[in-house]
Amino acid sequence: MTATLLAAGFMLAGAVGVLAMDALPLYALSKTLASPISQAHVPQFVSYSFEPAFWTEFFGEPDSPRNLTFTLLNHLHERGARPIIRAGGITMDSMIFDPDVKLSAVRTENGKGGIYRTTIGPSFYKQWENFPEGTTFVSTVNFGNNSVEIARGLALASYTLQKDKIAYYELGNEPTNYPTSRWQKSTEAYVAQWKSFTGQIDKAVNGSSRGKWWASSATTDVTGLKVRPSDLIPAGVNSTGLVGQYSIHSYAFATCDPAREKRATIANILNHTDLLRYADEEIYPSAKAAMDSGATWVVGEFNSIACSGKPNVSDTFAQALWTADVELIYAVRNATSVHLHQGATLLFQSNQQLNTPGDDGTPGFSSYSLLYPISSSKRGAARVLPVFVSQLLVVETLRDGGRIAALKTPSRLSEREFSSYAVFGKEGKVMKLAILNMKPFYAGQGTASTVRLDIGDHSGATVKRMTAPSVDEKDSAKVTWAGQSFRDGKAVGDVTVETLGPNESVSLKDSEAVLVTFK
Ligand SMILES: *[C@@H]1O[C@H](CO)[C@@H](O)[C@H](O)[C@H]1NC(C)=O
Ligand SMILES: *[C@@H]1O[C@H](CO)[C@@H](O)[C@H](O)[C@H]1NC(C)=O
Ligand SMILES: *[C@@H]1O[C@H](CO)[C@@H](O)[C@H](O)[C@H]1NC(C)=O
Ligand SMILES: *[C@@H]1O[C@H](CO)[C@@H](O)[C@H](O)[C@H]1NC(C)=O
Ligand SMILES: *[C@@H]1O[C@H](CO)[C@@H](O)[C@H](O)[C@H]1NC(C)=O
Ligand SMILES: *[C@@H]1O[C@H](CO)[C@@H](O)[C@H](O)[C@H]1NC(C)=O
Ligand SMILES: *[C@@H]1O[C@H](CO)[C@@H](O)[C@H](O)[C@H]1NC(C)=O
Ligand SMILES: *[C@@H]1O[C@H](CO)[C@@H](O)[C@H](O)[C@H]1NC(C)=O
Repeated sequence: MTATLLAAGFMLAGAVGVLAMDALPLYALSKTLASPISQAHVPQFVSYSFEPAFWTEFFGEPDSPRNLTFTLLNHLHERGARPIIRAGGITMDSMIFDPDVKLSAVRTENGKGGIYRTTIGPSFYKQWENFPEGTTFVSTVNFGNNSVEIARGLALASYTLQKDKIAYYELGNEPTNYPTSRWQKSTEAYVAQWKSFTGQIDKAVNGSSRGKWWASSATTDVTGLKVRPSDLIPAGVNSTGLVGQYSIHSYAFATCDPAREKRATIANILNHTDLLRYADEEIYPSAKAAMDSGATWVVGEFNSIACSGKPNVSDTFAQALWTADVELIYAVRNATSVHLHQGATLLFQSNQQLNTPGDDGTPGFSSYSLLYPISSSKRGAARVLPVFVSQLLVVETLRDGGRIAALKTPSRLSEREFSSYAVFGKEGKVMKLAILNMKPFYAGQGTASTVRLDIGDHSGATVKRMTAPSVDEKDSAKVTWAGQSFRDGKAVGDVTVETLGPNESVSLKDSEAVLVTFK
């Protein structure tokens, strides 16, 4: 590539504020890095977490796979992504394997959507064969029932049926939310029991789980039990040598109670300054502890708004901007994979939450998911949600071992409303720019304003655009990536790639993102 934004050339931003011919103000994209350059990213970076109780709704059965979900995964796979699928979440902690169960996953419910147990059969693991070639999985193991027998049963079933597809094992989801009586707020008691269970399971699978366990899986909620990776590493969680990676969960917003529900607005989830604050204060200390110990780390479960999202916020195009920005924020901080959570409202998660299950306890699908996998009384027709396009943007940004760094906010733009990244190739040259104009532009506000950006000297570039009529757009037929929409799974429209002439600037309207690829 011949762009002159070379790594070595990333010094101070050049002159700003040159008046443009078409009278749009011109801003100079900063060439100053606001972060170190990340590690080279792997095809597993864009990954997922699916609540196991709803596995059948999302994936169908081995002989009748859910076409809509698999079509979405195929779009990612075609672009080189190889997601790691974690069948994880709260319901993994009341999950049990029964070899005689015919269906993949059967919920034992109270009739109103309260789930006491999820029983999985061999089909659950057989279904892994329907995923695109190269997909691997996290074998998730129940710690909630406090039973080595139940935990071992799950691990052994996964090993017996699909040993080659297991990338990692995980014992327990969000131990920070377990009853206090379990470990009496003692990190040491937690670590001792974690080592005891994983050790017994490792014996059952003939030592094959060594170096494959995720450790921690904590939330960032303030609880008495301190078990984030930054707590577990000094407490010796890997003294038995079983840990493969450290996992932490990221939820900065929630609808679990009325106070947090009020804060879960489009304006707040798109405040880039606040997304950085959360990442740096809550997540990065654990990431750094992991990296300092020579280990890798993952965001094992995350989404925008805990307790299943918020309708009119997480089911809009705002969620696409949020997801793209947050995934790139964690890419900059060297997460090796980020597992966007998919699921449905869990009645027992909170008695003050905004969301509810559907009629007669049917799933009330989470409005932050990529899709509503089946038609339901609660959410209407099965369909893909506006967020999906963000996954294409991130996969295409980081593909082929991309190394990414954040750029400083251009002068005269607000950090809260603007996010930009440079992607470096093997020789340290800038190959791509990912630019997000996070400023909310709502339907009915007239015409969105446009930011024109000087992206430096270059010999030509192509642009793919993630866009929608407004930030609160809910119809994914109107939400596009490079001109294509994905409402029913399949791509509608022709791929539209804009071309920039030498040195030409790029324009983004409010609530829009672009991926610029230099020649
Ligand atoms: C990410 O890893 C690279 C090495 O690959 C390192 O130079 C950089 O400092 C790390 N970034 C952060 C934010 O820790
Ligand atoms: C989904 O169904 C369509 C139409 O029946 C078919 O063309 C496509 O291959 C299917 N996709 C998957 C991933 O099975
Ligand atoms: C696991 O524990 C839950 C309560 O936390 C209980 O409802 C469920 O029946 C238990 N499952 C089994 C298989 O014992
Ligand atoms: C573990 O190894 C033993 C001895 O080779 C074998 O009999 C047993 O089936 C193995 N267990 C599993 C779960 O593969
Ligand atoms: C855990 O310890 C084993 C054995 O010392 C080591 O090979 C592995 O890399 C360690 N895992 C992590 C995540 O540090
Ligand atoms: C955006 O987030 C920052 C950091 O948390 C905060 O100080 C600021 O008040 C927020 N801005 C708005 C408009 O909410
Ligand atoms: C979402 O917005 C629609 C109208 O735009 C409104 O009828 C509905 O009550 C809103 N839903 C929630 C949960 O706020
Ligand atoms: C691009 O900018 C550089 C440096 O200002 C200049 O040398 C070059 O001629 C410009 N190219 C075009 C096509 O304007």
